[in-house]
This record gives sequence, C-alpha cells and structure tokens, in this order.
Amino acid sequence: MATTKRLRTNKIVMGTCYYPEHWDESLWKNDLLRMIDSGIEVIRIGEFAWSRIEPTEGNYTFDFFDRFLEVARETGMKVIFCTPTATPPAWLTEKYPEVLNRTIEGVSYRHGGRRHYNYNSPVYRDFTAAIVEKIAQHYAPHPNIIGWQIDNEINCEVNEFYSESDDIAFRNFIKKKYGTLEALNQAWGTAFWNQEYTDWSQVHIPQPVVNRSMNPHRMLDYIRFISESAREFVKLQSDIIRKYIKEGDFITTNGMFGNLDNHKMTDESLDFYMFDSYPNFAYCLDQDPEQVSDLKDREWSRMLSEVRSISPVFGIMEQQSGANGWTSRIVAPQPKPGQITLWSMQSVAHGADYISYFRWRTCTMGTEIYWHGILDYSNRENRRIAEIREISNKFDKIKEIAGATYKASFGVVKDYDNIWDAQIDIWHKKVEEVSSKGIFKASQLTHTPMDYVYIGEDAQLDDLSRYPVLFYPHAVIMTRERAELLEAYVKQGGTLILGCRTGYKDITGKCVMLKLPGLLRDLSGADVIDYTFVSPADDPVYVDWDGIKLEAAVFNDILEPLEDAQVLGTYTSNYYTGKAGLIGRKLGEGYVYYFGGAFTEDTVKVFLQKTGILSPYRHVLEVPQSCELAVREKDGMEYLFVLNYEKEAQKIEIKQPLFDLYEQKIVSGSVILSPYDTKVYRREKI
Ligand code: GAL
Repeated sequence: MATTKRLRTNKIVMGTCYYPEHWDESLWKNDLLRMIDSGIEVIRIGEFAWSRIEPTEGNYTFDFFDRFLEVARETGMKVIFCTPTATPPAWLTEKYPEVLNRTIEGVSYRHGGRRHYNYNSPVYRDFTAAIVEKIAQHYAPHPNIIGWQIDNEINCEVNEFYSESDDIAFRNFIKKKYGTLEALNQAWGTAFWNQEYTDWSQVHIPQPVVNRSMNPHRMLDYIRFISESAREFVKLQSDIIRKYIKEGDFITTNGMFGNLDNHKMTDESLDFYMFDSYPNFAYCLDQDPEQVSDLKDREWSRMLSEVRSISPVFGIMEQQSGANGWTSRIVAPQPKPGQITLWSMQSVAHGADYISYFRWRTCTMGTEIYWHGILDYSNRENRRIAEIREISNKFDKIKEIAGATYKASFGVVKDYDNIWDAQIDIWHKKVEEVSSKGIFKASQLTHTPMDYVYIGEDAQLDDLSRYPVLFYPHAVIMTRERAELLEAYVKQGGTLILGCRTGYKDITGKCVMLKLPGLLRDLSGADVIDYTFVSPADDPVYVDWDGIKLEAAVFNDILEPLEDAQVLGTYTSNYYTGKAGLIGRKLGEGYVYYFGGAFTEDTVKVFLQKTGILSPYRHVLEVPQSCELAVREKDGMEYLFVLNYEKEAQKIEIKQPLFDLYEQKIVSGSVILSPYDTKVYRREKI
C-alpha cells in the first residue's frame, strides 16, 4: 500500500518539540544554541498557538513567529511548522459554539482543554481554512522551515463526535452511501427491533440507547463516517499548504489513534506519517494492571510495527524523554539511565529515521507540568540531556541505516473493516485480542520479525506476495475482492494461516447465510459444521497436530475437510473430541491452513516452526528472549538491532563476525549488554 509514503533523509535526524509561546523571548536563542550543541537539528513549533497568529477574529499578526523564526535563521535551526487547529481560541468557541464537539448525551465540550472541536462544522472548517491559508502563505517561504504538521494527533483524546454538524454530515454520508431508504434499511438490518427508517430525517449519529445496544451495522458506518470526517479535515488543510509549500518540504501529521484509516489519510494528504512514542505507558501506575502487557515497554514495538505499515520509513514526532504525567491523569516514573536511548533505538529499529523528543523543557504551567521533557523546570544540565548527547553520537555512527526498510519474516493481514467490527462486537473482539497478542509475542520472543499488512480497497498482490507466510487470524468480515486476492496470494506460492470465525460477516457487518467460512470456504477447504466459545468451565482445548498439542483458545470452529483438503489436527477434548480442528489445503504453489481456534503465543510458535520461518537469525546470533532483535535492510546490507529491555545485563552470542556500528569494528563471540543497552550490527545479506 503506502510504500511510497516514506521519510527520505540521509542520516538519522534528531529533533525536539519547542513552544516559544511558553517561554520568555530572552530564552529562545540560548535554547536553540543549546539544542544544536546537543545534536538537535530540527524543532516542531506552533501546534497549539492559534492566538499568537489570530488573537481576535480576523485579525492576523505574524510578528510573534516572525521573531522566533528569525532566531531559528540566526542559529541555523530547522523548523517543522504546525497548523494550530487542535486548540481553537476562546473567542472562536464562545462566539460560534457550534464548532464544539459534544458527548453522546449532547453535552458540549467547552474551552479549556484541547481537541474540543468537531471536524464537520462548516464554521470551523471556514476558520480552519482561513488560518491555514494565512499561515502557509506567510511562513512557507521561510528558509528554515522544512516541513508541516497538520493539527496535532488527529482523533486523540476523543474520537467520537456528536455535534449537530456531525449529525447532519452523517445523514449526508449515509444518503450518499445508500441512495435510498430501502437500501439503508437493508444494509442496517432495520427489520430487527422495528428500526426501519421511513424518512431521512430519522437517521442520526448514535444516541443514547438502553443498555448501549446500538445497531452494530449503524455503528460500523458511524466509525467509517468519523474516519472520513477526520480525513477530509486533514485534506482540507494539506490542499491549502500544498499551494504554498517550498519544493522539498513535507507535510505530515503525528498519531496514531483509533476510528481513523491512517493509511488512507496518509495516501491522500501526507508525504509520510509520524508517530508519538511513549513506551512509559507500559508502566503507567494508574492503568488497569490487567491491561499491561507482560512485554511491558517492548509491547510498544507493536505500535511501531503498525506505524511502519503506513510509512515503511517514518518519523517520531514525539519521543519520550522524561516522566509522563498530567495533573489530571497518569502517574509514571522517569526513564531510567539508558532507557531514553533504548526507546529511541526501538523506534529506529522499527523504521524511524527522525527522532524528535517531547519536549525540550518541562512546562512550568498547565495540565502537563508532569509531562517531562529533556530539561527540568530549572533549565539546569541534567542526566537526560547528557543521554541525548550520547544518542546523537550513536545516531551519527549508524547514519548509513537511513532509508533501510524493516525486514520481516512473515506478515499479519489487517483491514479497517475488521478492526472496527471488533471494536463494536465483543464476540469478535475476544478472539482478535488473544490472537493479536499471541502472534506479536511469539514473533518477539522467537526473534521472528513480522510486519502488519493492511489491505484496503486498493490492495495488490504485490503487497502480500513479499511475505512467504501470512496470518489473517480472524477475517470475520470478508469481501469477494479480498477473497480473490488471498487466493491469488496462495496460488503464487504463499502460505496463508486463517483462524476461527473467518468469513461469517459481509461488509455491513451482517452475518452471511453461507456455509462457513463463507467466501473463504473454497479457498481454505474447510467446512465449519459447528462452533462454540470455550466455556470458562472447560479446560483449555487442544488440537493434536502430529503429536504436538496446539491450544485452540477462546473459540472453536469444528471442522470437516472439503474434497482436496486434509485433516492435519483433531480436537482432544470437549464434545468435539476427535473432530477436525486444523485443516490444510495445497493450492497452486501455496498452502492454506484453517485453524479452529484463536492463536496463543505457543500455538503461533508451532505454526512458525512448521512453516519453516522460525528464528531466521539463529545462525548469526543467539539472543535471549528478554532482548528484542529487529532487522533493517538496504543495499545488500542487513542491520541487526539488539535491544535489552531488562534491568539486568544480558548475554548474546555472535556466531558469525559482525560489524558493530557503535564501536566501528568487527566483533564475534559473547557480548554482554548492560541494563537497557542496545547494539547495532551490520552484515552482508546472504
Ligand atoms: C501527546 C501530545 C502532546 C503532549 C503529550 C503529553 O499526545 O501530542 O501535545 O500533550 O502527549 O501529554
């Protein structure tokens, strides 16, 4: 998909987020010089500073940022300028309250926080277009500006919209999509619970209903609508900036949040995608301990893998450099010595060539006084800025990696229809959660690197055929086009692994009256004759695959093979003991597995082993489970990152001589990684 949407630079660039409006002007120059002295070459500015440019309605003034950009010019600091639309000013929301978002109960969010606006208000769109036009026209020619960030974190904080404008826009979206009320009633299955619409005026965004039992087909379209609204809002801005932008400058935004097709947004409006990386979320002390992955901060690599599927080479607009906390939420520790480096290298290992720390200095006022930056309030030298300087030296040593792409041994297919369906359907969610954790964890712990592969409407065979093995764990919603694509993938030699619950819904989220797995029945050679959740009262259910016990977690499809398919494994317990739980089918040059359960970590490990892709670097270096191994490749070279997330030292064994990029020498044998240590090795690709 968006493989062309990649950041292009010839080294790993370091940046930081700076807020000239938070500090006395007398500090600016010294701050910028000190940044440059620490290896920081780029700053991001302006994303919340609407009032500095339009202090009252229609009165634009450019003096403030002109003065600041002059300091940037004097010091040689490069700048990413932002549009300030995440925080509309008080004069705007007070005079035009229709620009505000509302809760589902209809209560308006008011001034004082951020992201309190709605994407669909014509008034807000006009004000947005006007300020973006003014800013872009005035600042785009500035020699120190190298790129643009649109808004800040689209769909962060709140990603549901219930204003009057959203209601109207949703009705239009639905009208355009279905054309007639008959088609709409059909698509949403409104015969159920007497929900039929007889006039378009009855069609609304979700409203409070008893027991939150909203029509799921309507909800699915509502999420699609939110995504489209957000994308249109971003496109409105990027179209304006494009008119003024200097040649070579880029447009991006930072993220990544839900209810948004980030891939489409990037394709339509951005040059590449940026992410905000705060691995400390793994340690947030106010988080539900159940939700905290036992991979802890390493779990963040999952997010980075998602980002990579949008832009294979991307940037980190906000990389954690201190403790996190708001006065209202989140209590978290400072990164320990070495962890800023570890987390920065984690980003680079997954494909980031730009690392910008949030933020230069911790803010002395407002909600985020505990969201620490590199420097503390006092501005004194501290261990964190010392670590940033060391990272800058490391970036210099590994600069040849810039532009290299992550090298995965297998892919996990995803699509937004199924992601959103799983959000609103707990049956779907239960299997999905277990499998996505299981697959990621198995990949991490066995050092078998993986990619996410998103298939949108424009998906091509090439997107898939790069991977010898693909998991598509629970393709609940299936379309004819996707089924054909998967078939083509298998025929040309791919191995496709499907899990339970495949193919039982159509694109509206309604169930199909087909023998399951529906549109993938022929391809998989599996016939689902019965199915059930694994009851909490049952013991875990296993499938025997050539003597290996494979857990079929959460849900079980009870299978029979179609003509040329083979039973590979049978259930060993429950009322379906002896019935097929794993079916295999050879097709063309490839192979399809249909597995009756959700995929746990151990189950995935078996599939990785059976498909011959497990631990592809084991002959090169032996890495303990506690360390991550990530690989980027470019021009016939492979770059192997080893990341120690533990507070104890870890030993690795280098089995073939490798070039250590930090040390700039060839190494082999045992190497000790101190706590939170990282290593980057180069080898010729064989
Ligand atoms: C990010 C956001 C920043 C800052 C930071 C700390 O999500 O983009 O503006 O708020 O979190 O909360």
